[in-house]
Parts: sequence; structure tokens; C-alpha cells
Amino acid sequence: MAHDIDLRLVTDSTNEALKGEGFAHNRLVIAEYQSAGRGRRGRRWVSPLASNLYWSLGWKTQLPVQQLGGLSLVVGLAIVEALRQLEVTGVELKWPNDIRFQGRKLGGILIELSGDMVGGLQVIIGVGLNVHMSDRVTETIEQDWMNLQELKSGISRQEVLVEIIRQLGVYLEQFEKQGFHTFLDEWQKVDECYNQKVSIIQGDETINGCGAGVDENGAFLLQTGKGMKPVYAGEVSLRLR
Ligand code: BTN
Repeated sequence: MAHDIDLRLVTDSTNEALKGEGFAHNRLVIAEYQSAGRGRRGRRWVSPLASNLYWSLGWKTQLPVQQLGGLSLVVGLAIVEALRQLEVTGVELKWPNDIRFQGRKLGGILIELSGDMVGGLQVIIGVGLNVHMSDRVTETIEQDWMNLQELKSGISRQEVLVEIIRQLGVYLEQFEKQGFHTFLDEWQKVDECYNQKVSIIQGDETINGCGAGVDENGAFLLQTGKGMKPVYAGEVSLRLR
């Protein structure tokens, strides 16, 4: 897919940059530094200069919003596949948006809707991926994190980005034409929570159970004592015991 690429030294947030404009399909905003990088649930995404990948893709689709449930999972799968092509193996996904290796966070995905266009939606697919961030980064990062460089020394941000964008084009086309259910088997292979004891936090409520994959809409499946419960939103955490 052809891209309109906007490479910035500094921006507040690449997602925000696209939000402010009626972007063209496949517009890609990349930044070397984000002054106000955002994660899910209003968290801050620490984005030091020239260390990692911070980018957002403007994607226009005819799919109805109800069919976008699996989108962040498909983006995660495209990233795992791209990394595999670069001989980085063992990367897993934690529903709905975490890219992890052995329980440590390598990156995350933030999908936002920017508005309706006539007959379709404008979707912003934002990705942050740690490549060679210094462990002396001054801001506090709440989650246990790691760099891609620990999995393949000398890996470059350019090669990672090029391969991800290539795979993403293929995966998004399959998602649009054939739906999320065609990715179910692939998801199961990299699902960090599969068959694991997990807790789901939804507001004030915590539900315990066992991860049982995802359904054809991308909802998390939680096996509880009362049966299978599809979870559409919430924070999943693995329980060690
Ligand atoms: C998460 O795990 O909470 C999602 C993190 C997403 C971070 C990326 S960095 C590029 C894009 N711009 C942002 O402000 N956020 C996303």
C-alpha cells in the first residue's frame, strides 16, 4: 500500500496529530519524540527522543464500528509476524493491545476513532514499540518493560517499521475482506493469557477466571465458575497463583 509519510522530530502525540486533520487513507505520522504520548485509559506513554518507534496510521474503512472489535488484535498479530520475519521470535500478545515478551512490555497499540466520513470511518492506529530505550529514562514507567534490542542486538528502528507497515497492509486487507474470525487460530498461538489464571478489572469489579482465547468479534473469553463470559472492555492481569 502506498503511504503518505509525515516524519516529525517532535509532536505532542502522533495519534493527536492525525485527529486534528481529515487525513488521507494510509497517512502515516512518525515522530522521534512525543511530548504528550498517550497510552490506553488516559495513561501517559513515555516517548524519549530517538529511542523507540512512535507512529500512527490513518486508516479509512467501510466496516461498521461493531466489526472493529478485533482490530487491535489484528494490528498486534501483524506486528508479531513482522518481528518473526526479522527473526525475533517468542513475542506474545496480551488482550487487547499489549505486545510482550515473557511478561515484559515491548509495546502497545492505541486505536481511536477520529470521526465519520460519508459511508465509512476514520480510524487512527497508534503504535509505540520500545527498540533501544535507555533504562535511565527519567520518567517513571509503571509496567515492567523491555527493548526489542534485547531480543535481537543491532535491530534498527527503520527495518522494524518497514516490515510492520508491510505486514499491516496485508493483515488489514484480510481483516476488511474476511473478518476477524480468520485470525482466531493465529491469535491462540500468541495469546499470553490462554489457559492462564487471570483477573479482569472492570471499574470497581474484579472477575477471576481462566483465559480461554477470544471470540469471533475479538472479545476476551473468560472461563468462570459460572460459565464462559465474553469480556468487551477491561484490564486483564495474569494471576501468579
Ligand atoms: C498502551 O499500551 O497503552 C498503548 C500505547 C500506544 C502508544 C502509541 S505511541 C504512538 C501513538 N501516539 C500516542 O500518543 N500513542 C500511540
